[in-house]
Amino acid sequence: MMQTVTTIAEVRNWSAAARRTGQTVGLVPTMGALHEGHRSLIRRARQACQAVAVSLFVNPTQFGPNEDFDAYPRDLTADQGACAAEGVDLIFAPSAAEMYPTPPTTTVHVAGLTERLCGAHRPGHFDGVTTVVAKLLNIVEPDAAYFGQKDAQQAIVVRRMVADLDFRCRIVICPTVYDPDGLATSSRNAYLTAEQRRRALGLGEALRRAESRVREGRRDAREIAEAIRRHLAAKGIQSIDYIEVVDAATLSPVERIDGPTLIALAVRIGRTRLIDNTIVLDDGAGLRETSSR
Ligand code: PAJ
Repeated sequence: MMQTVTTIAEVRNWSAAARRTGQTVGLVPTMGALHEGHRSLIRRARQACQAVAVSLFVNPTQFGPNEDFDAYPRDLTADQGACAAEGVDLIFAPSAAEMYPTPPTTTVHVAGLTERLCGAHRPGHFDGVTTVVAKLLNIVEPDAAYFGQKDAQQAIVVRRMVADLDFRCRIVICPTVYDPDGLATSSRNAYLTAEQRRRALGLGEALRRAESRVREGRRDAREIAEAIRRHLAAKGIQSIDYIEVVDAATLSPVERIDGPTLIALAVRIGRTRLIDNTIVLDDGAGLRETSSR
């Protein structure tokens, strides 16, 4: 039977009991409003682990002052239905007071990797993410935690934190799930009007074109980025946070694409910020085999 708990003590009891009976524990950290992307991570955890926990927590410390913390969709009942359908064992849905009983004075900062891409446009965001993920890993003590390539920088940063701080946990990065029309599935897609959504399809289109350019042997990073910019402009997307062509392990910009390379985009359509990415020259491994060291 699936349980929903709200306190750290209850999670610790559940996790200790699972480990005592020799079960492997998987954790899927989320902010709720579960969709097919989240569900693909849960399925992956379900396949590999005997006890599966999903955390639902809209973490205030990773939202900037002008971001959508208040508007972010919350629907515990729907999330419980999705988790039950995927065979989840435990939902951890803490309050902000449970996670942050006093204003936090200790944070986890991953240097370097967090300075580019989304980190350059969302100051403090990744410190909020790594700090809450560190807390969740210490609370649940999972054998493996599951992240989506949709947020590639986040997954790479978390992997680095886990390596640097010797967390006893494997970080598994799963492929991005797309809606049938080609838009990367996201809770924030709900903010888009039908017309904005048509424009948003430009992200996936631009990335698929970039992939075929690379397949054809075009390796100049600036040329690839420029072609993406032109495609987005043709779709009426003018507000671009970044188009980056970076080494998939270090996130440093490359001039020539000659190894696993992350091509990542962030744009604004109306008030909605959308991201998507692809990894090229990776032999289909995505971030599975890309070491963060
Ligand atoms: P959230 O945006 O809810 O995403 C939870 C997990 O689902 C992340 O690992 C994210 O990459 C993954 N995900 C989202 N959309 C996806 C898609 N279309 N395909 C595959 N995976 C997808 O990311 C967060 O929450 C938070 O930052 C969190 C890690 C929970 C820390 O607060």
